[in-house]
Amino acid sequence: MELDNTRDMSQLICFTEVLRELKNLNYTGSSALEKVANNILSYLLKLTQAQTGMLAVITNQKAAKVASTSNTITIDEEEIAWLYHASEPVTYLHNRNIMLIPLKIKKISSGLIKLIKSEPFTDKDLRYAAYLSYFAAMAVERAKVKTGITVGNLTNARLLARTVELHDPYTRNHSIRVTRHSLMIASKMKLPRTFCQILRNAALLHDIGKIAIPDEILLKNGPLTHEEFHLVKRHPVIGANIFGKQGDYGEMASFILHHHERWDGSGYPHGLARENIPLGARIIAVADAFEAMTSHRPYRKALSREEATRELINHSGTQFDPQVVEVFLK
Ligand SMILES: [Fe+2]
Repeated sequence: MELDNTRDMSQLICFTEVLRELKNLNYTGSSALEKVANNILSYLLKLTQAQTGMLAVITNQKAAKVASTSNTITIDEEEIAWLYHASEPVTYLHNRNIMLIPLKIKKISSGLIKLIKSEPFTDKDLRYAAYLSYFAAMAVERAKVKTGITVGNLTNARLLARTVELHDPYTRNHSIRVTRHSLMIASKMKLPRTFCQILRNAALLHDIGKIAIPDEILLKNGPLTHEEFHLVKRHPVIGANIFGKQGDYGEMASFILHHHERWDGSGYPHGLARENIPLGARIIAVADAFEAMTSHRPYRKALSREEATRELINHSGTQFDPQVVEVFLK
């Protein structure tokens, strides 16, 4: 009994340590995904005292092994099929000696962890692993972005934008249209090509931070509470943090961070005003507002282009940069 308690306590300590590590797991560079995967795997082996394991990333229903303690561990089609249909966050196969942990964000599968142990996994192993799987999935997604996206490479940016929009039919293609409007403004302003490439990725990913906001809030039918609204307003900060303010994606992250600032300084998250707001963010703000106003939403009808244009003019110089509005409507 005493032994059980000691084991319970040390597992709990291990769990809290792993949770903290997972939340801060962040690498840059081409091997970011590999490093993150190896870390996650070693945390989970330690936590569950499993002997061997692997982490695979799933793309188009195909698994690619990213971290593994042994070459002999494989993942078969049946397991991948299970991943797509699993309602339980974690399951056991083969007499509780194999644990499969799906890495999912908003029902979208990004990977799978398989652990193997000589004794049966306990219910606590299962519960801890299930709880950590969301944070592991977030770390994997962050690493995928850092490994895959370069400025000008749109494939992954588009994919990620879709990931955010998939669960909500009303915002599907929203980012694509915001991107189109943003690039139109930038080209009329004759902004340099490199700026346009950064702007394009930022516009596609401006709402990426919403992956961290629970569905119950994002898809709520009815007014949000004060706390819920506060949480939704965190999405630009979360989005910018995914890419990091310094490094290759710093400028893109700053456009994402400030796309809800207002020209008069009454926006969020930092209450920046006028030219202190990065130009890319001011452009996205106009494109985003126009796109949102002219699209149908469950709670209101779309405005006509003329009505939306009038709204932009009415809020030019308070919410929006007047020069950007003028260029957009030219
Ligand atoms: Fe937003």
